[in-house]
Amino acid sequence: MSEVKLEDIVSLCKRRGFIYPGSDVYGGLSGTWDYGPLGVALKRNIMQLWWKMFVDDADNMYGVDAAILMNQKVWQASGHVDTFTDPLVECGNCHNRFRADKIDTSKCPSCGQKGTFGEPRQFNMMFKTFIGPVQNEPVIIGGPQDENNDGGLMGKVAMTFDPNSVVYLRPETAQGIFTNFKNVVDSFYPDLPFGLAQQGKGFRNEISPRDFIFRDREFEMMEIEYFVHPDEWEKCFEEWVKRIHLWCEALGLPAEQVHELEVAKDDLAHYSKRTVDFEFDFPIGREELLGLAYRTDFDLQNIQQASGKSMEYTVKGTNDKFVPHVIEPSFGVERALMAVLTAAYWDDKENERIVLKLPAHLAPVKVAVSPLLKNKPELVAKAKEVYDMLKKEFGAVMWDDNGNIGKRYRRQDEIGTPYCVVIDFDTLEGDTAGTVTVRHRDTTEQQRVTIDALADAINI
Ligand code: GAP
Repeated sequence: MSEVKLEDIVSLCKRRGFIYPGSDVYGGLSGTWDYGPLGVALKRNIMQLWWKMFVDDADNMYGVDAAILMNQKVWQASGHVDTFTDPLVECGNCHNRFRADKIDTSKCPSCGQKGTFGEPRQFNMMFKTFIGPVQNEPVIIGGPQDENNDGGLMGKVAMTFDPNSVVYLRPETAQGIFTNFKNVVDSFYPDLPFGLAQQGKGFRNEISPRDFIFRDREFEMMEIEYFVHPDEWEKCFEEWVKRIHLWCEALGLPAEQVHELEVAKDDLAHYSKRTVDFEFDFPIGREELLGLAYRTDFDLQNIQQASGKSMEYTVKGTNDKFVPHVIEPSFGVERALMAVLTAAYWDDKENERIVLKLPAHLAPVKVAVSPLLKNKPELVAKAKEVYDMLKKEFGAVMWDDNGNIGKRYRRQDEIGTPYCVVIDFDTLEGDTAGTVTVRHRDTTEQQRVTIDALADAINI
């Protein structure tokens, strides 16, 4: 387990404008979180890094962005309507509900009563809604409009809906990829193996959202469906294991805190023949960071059967035709973010400061620029010049003239800014004219650099 405390990360995130509880002003909404200015930037940096590593830098990867709302047939064919469930138990005493596989059901974790749980029932985690103005026609049961009257609740008012109008908020982005497999093959005809990648929101009506952003009801996913020849799946699976370790390294996660867990046959998801979970030592213990699954041809075969359209792939220049198999690396952005924050959080007791030692390429602010004193117009004017120059170069540059210089450094350390640049009187006159101080976050070292050489000295 990481030595960092979850409450310290939660508190820093709220205090410094990374992450706030969802609907905070109304008392919150369980399992939802809102991202503040620095949280958005950090999350985007993680997502952009992923896109660069896995899509832009590869020569056999294609991006897609499917609609969140999809035809309900997608979730019937994929098995989610029937099997995307968690076991739910309710305490007969306090009526709180829990995931049966996450608690000791001999005693209620809420009220402490023993023997109050009955048999678990399967709870489907998909959020269900309706498309179009077809819901909410009130009907009196047993009345003239009630075609399905079974007489059981005679006289009561019920709401009806057209079952064809049911849609689900997607619980994974993967199906948006599978449903576009044929489209992309027809447009690009890529050689196998090739991958389709997608980033976007996923929604799960988790029974017990918990542990900050670790288990949410709305979260961001980054998924790849990597289509392979059936004989090649083991080789491709191992290649993905290596790529995932490189990804963890790029996030700044110490290798000794990342663990591979071969998921037992009985615990495999309904679509998987083999899954390796990549776990991380979070403050809450060793938990799943992301998953790598061999989905066989389960999804494409289901689509083929349900849609009546062929999902076969023909190897170019041959008559070799088959439904490709799939390796699926599936990444949760919030889990990546929580791992990044855990790895970066540093209580530097020697210097009495909290530091986020973020890799520079992920830091939401790359450089903070300050005039030593904000009431000296000549310092402010020069600092503005430097700020404008750096902003053009690095984009994420912050102007910071609040409080004394020590306080500014502490504040920037806490949000993970790798460099602070200070414009002082030596910048304006004497032998040092045209130079500024560059202060390094991790070492607190300061160096004098000419403004001309500043962009090169900032190593991002
Ligand atoms: N398409 C495969 C799939 O959805 P999964 O293991 O259910 O697999 C993939 O989810 C990843 O999504 C997980 O490894 C985790 O990082 C993230 N994830 C899943 N449920 C989550 C939740 N409720 N809150 C935050 N992240 C979640």
